[in-house]
Amino acid sequence: MPVAGYVFGEAELITEQQACMQACLDPITIEHLAALDVGPGWSCLEVGAGGGSIARWLGRQVGPGGHVLATDLDTGRTDPGPDGPVQVRWHDITTDVLPEAAFDLVHARLVLLHLPQRLRALAAMVRAVKPGGWLLLDEFDCTWMPVLAGHGQAVFARFHAALCAVLTEAGADIAWGSHAYAALAEQGMDRMGAAARAQAWPGGSTGSRWLQVNIAQLGGRLVATGLVSAGDLAELRELLDDPGFVVSSYLVVSTWGRRPG
Ligand SMILES: C[S@@+](CC[C@H](N)C(=O)[O-])C[C@H]1O[C@@H](n2cnc3c(N)ncnc32)[C@H](O)[C@@H]1O
Repeated sequence: MPVAGYVFGEAELITEQQACMQACLDPITIEHLAALDVGPGWSCLEVGAGGGSIARWLGRQVGPGGHVLATDLDTGRTDPGPDGPVQVRWHDITTDVLPEAAFDLVHARLVLLHLPQRLRALAAMVRAVKPGGWLLLDEFDCTWMPVLAGHGQAVFARFHAALCAVLTEAGADIAWGSHAYAALAEQGMDRMGAAARAQAWPGGSTGSRWLQVNIAQLGGRLVATGLVSAGDLAELRELLDDPGFVVSSYLVVSTWGRRPG
């Protein structure tokens, strides 16, 4: 039986995967964090911090009088940056306790989507927010990912179906990006908002490289679904180097809310 939860964690290519996701998604995340006015002295929690780019950005905003706690199951990859307000700690968001009402901001990107226990984890994250503080989630809705230009729709559709099947079998909610708003509302958050964004990823771009890395990480599991062949994956790897083949990224849905009080 597959282990429930995060499917990319054991792959050797994870450092490159994280570099790609940071390059593609940091501008979107930072825009939303900046709109929440993160500033000097804030106390922030970055759940599933990965390579740590957002934790370091938060560290620069909160300054020496603030504090950023960056947690992950794989803290060896989380770079806190030069001596500063970012502290890295091993923490499993599905089982380990969080301090209550401790943070002005709690943020997670592409973490809860993967976790079968996402609603329990979300409830703990909400409780960790100080009354009047903010929670921001950036999550994919993987149900929408069209080919925008070039040939290869059919092979891409087979890959996409197989990827969604692998994620779903491991316990992911592939439409979590579109389910997060209702989940935050259920937690009693107020001043809520959401914004969705997608990017064009031409072959040879960082986004296309991210997909190639995903194929390298999951190839055998993708083929085992019976939805895509090894030949399809080889063809797709080549297409993803061709600037004439352009796919849309998944929809990145950013959802935020304030803890009342
Ligand atoms: C897709 S990566 C996203 C990394 C980072 N948030 C980013 O967007 O650049 C998901 C991260 O969540 C971490 N993760 C997975 N399950 C977790 C859990 N139960 N508790 C804490 N972190 C977890 C993984 O180790 C990985 O670093």
